[in-house]
Amino acid sequence: MTTMPVDQLKEEEAREELKRLAKLIAHHDMLYYIEDQPEISDADYDKLRQRNAAIEKRFPHLVREDSPSLRVGAPLLGPFKKVKHLKPVLSLDNGFEDKDVYDFMDRIRRFLGLSRDTPIDIVAEPKIDGLSATLRYEKGIFILGATRGDGTEGEDITQNLKTLKDIPEVVEDKTFPALTEIRGEVYMRHNDFLAMNQEREKDHLPLFANPRNAAAGSVRQLDPKVTASRPLKFFAYSCDDYSPFHETTHWDFLVKLKGWGFTTNPLARLCKTTEDILTYYHELEAQRASLPYDIDGIVYKVNRIDWQRRMGASGRAPRWALAHKFPAEKAQTVLKDILIQVGRTGTLTPVAILEPVTVGGVVVSRATLHNEDEIARKDIRVGDTVLLQRAGDVIPQVLSSLKDKRPEDSHPFIFPHTCPVCGSHAVRLPGEVARKCIGGLICTTQAALRLRHFVSRDAFDIEGFGSKHIDAFYKEGLIHSPQDIFTLEERNKESLTPLRTREGWGPLSSHNLFKAIDVRRKIPLHRFIYSLGIPQVGQATAKLLARHYLSYTGWKDAMIAAKDQGGEPYAELMSIDGIGPSVSADLIAFFDEPHNLKVLDELLQEITVLNEAPPQASASPLANKTIVFTGTLDRMTRSEAKVRAEALGAKVSSSVSAKTDYVVVGADAGSKAKAAHAFGIKVLNEVEWLKLLE
Ligand code: IVH
Repeated sequence: MTTMPVDQLKEEEAREELKRLAKLIAHHDMLYYIEDQPEISDADYDKLRQRNAAIEKRFPHLVREDSPSLRVGAPLLGPFKKVKHLKPVLSLDNGFEDKDVYDFMDRIRRFLGLSRDTPIDIVAEPKIDGLSATLRYEKGIFILGATRGDGTEGEDITQNLKTLKDIPEVVEDKTFPALTEIRGEVYMRHNDFLAMNQEREKDHLPLFANPRNAAAGSVRQLDPKVTASRPLKFFAYSCDDYSPFHETTHWDFLVKLKGWGFTTNPLARLCKTTEDILTYYHELEAQRASLPYDIDGIVYKVNRIDWQRRMGASGRAPRWALAHKFPAEKAQTVLKDILIQVGRTGTLTPVAILEPVTVGGVVVSRATLHNEDEIARKDIRVGDTVLLQRAGDVIPQVLSSLKDKRPEDSHPFIFPHTCPVCGSHAVRLPGEVARKCIGGLICTTQAALRLRHFVSRDAFDIEGFGSKHIDAFYKEGLIHSPQDIFTLEERNKESLTPLRTREGWGPLSSHNLFKAIDVRRKIPLHRFIYSLGIPQVGQATAKLLARHYLSYTGWKDAMIAAKDQGGEPYAELMSIDGIGPSVSADLIAFFDEPHNLKVLDELLQEITVLNEAPPQASASPLANKTIVFTGTLDRMTRSEAKVRAEALGAKVSSSVSAKTDYVVVGADAGSKAKAAHAFGIKVLNEVEWLKLLE
């Protein structure tokens, strides 16, 4: 991941980075809003958005059409009807420290041209950690309820919202506008959430990670009866447009809402000074753990509606409001044990087994300890009282142990040097933090995880063949190695206990599985490379390799030959831009293992690996040529040059070898230019390079 400071980015790098961030943020939005399975903490998510905003501020002309700053929430998905909001549903800018609050107040003053001593009333409200919803009322009747969606369009969840007692079906008051959208947050209280999860546990249903996910999952139920059975609540806090209400302040508006039968948050407070605001913030921060629902900060809103109107919004958030976030929640508990988990590539990961404790409404009984060095550095021992942190919705982390509460007979944790699954040696290579089980073949956990990876979406993508089936087939001895998947149907015909007779399977489902396996007997090279699960060879690296070597045999022969580090194949592998010594070492190690070659041979009897299409077999003078750039180019950045060359079918490499066709030399070029002369390779200066591009 690029972490180059924003002020050092060149224009082309900024463009690339904005593209990357748009994609990444959209991905995390999807996980958070749609799948209710976030992978990163709220704090890390906020950092991504902040970086995006900072780059856009420096390069306003680079703001993308799909920029995250122009969009709120996730794209729409799912079976619900889409509905357009009366006005876009905005989000909030975030602040994290007291200084951000002073800055916010200064901004208001500057924007409105108010003097230092003009008082600015602010309404401070708890920021409920739920999901926002809009309620449309026509002539006082609740006619349409929707999720926020992308801010412009949401999903129609009217029937589900009608089951909430906090939402009045009718508002009988002449002063209530003929058409309006009341907005607020759907959430679940801690005790309701815990009771619901207990029920689910009894019924062997998957548990919700936290109240927010439970609320989001419940509101998107297809059957309103299910929603009705879920203990959902709603706090109202705004509307699409204040004009038809005739209130002059947000505070009065909240009072009116309450009078009409909506539930407003009783903890909201009208503050007169910045000091008032901060006192309120710290008061609620202290109360946070004992509140009956999750809040993740305080929202400040300019009270005067005419001022709000003058300030308007910038991008996705109103200028007159700020969300002041709380720091991650922490808790203490006793570390009962340290368990060692084995991953697909054999990495041993230490997991803390904890005396269950509630951190921000979620019961935590496991947390990650990262790796061997972390445990040693923090001197964490079984029996210690440890400090935990739940940052957002991610896996909790053990921050430290409280040494004064340590039992006298405790001793340092000794990280095992053998695999807990198969008993093989677990070794640490120089420079690596992870200790790895070397029993690749006999280690059952690794084998099952590798098979899961093999059939996964970006690899062989065998439909309907999920982890549960893989694990069961592996345990029963039906599938041990990837090739067994493709002989399953043949063996099944001769089997005394064919699949269709097994529990959970029938004639149709087993037929479908065999069909799904069959359609994957042809696979593009890059997917195939990725499917093998070679350490460090993810999708991007697999694509680099496929584009370079084009065919399965070309690739395989080259990898076997690359073992000789003095030879040409090794130099060629290393010359691929994006592949360095560490990835090369893993590739070579994989092909150096006779068992892997045997598996490959057997697998290739069942499947066909499709050649990668050579990049643009066009008339371009650069098609299939290998280019190395060195030195500083005047007219374009190195990244742009690379993109342009690749678009014309060239391969861009980082080092010069006998296979290099052109070396483009910019200012201050060093050894590579010399190497080019030594190899007798055509050297181009920048002008010649630009001509070639034309
Ligand atoms: S006001 C234009 N008030 O926080 C005003 N939002 O991070 C927009 N939220 O999308 C919202 N409690 O889902 C507001 N008291 C509160 C809130 C609140 C929670 C949520 C809301 C919003 C998100 C922004």
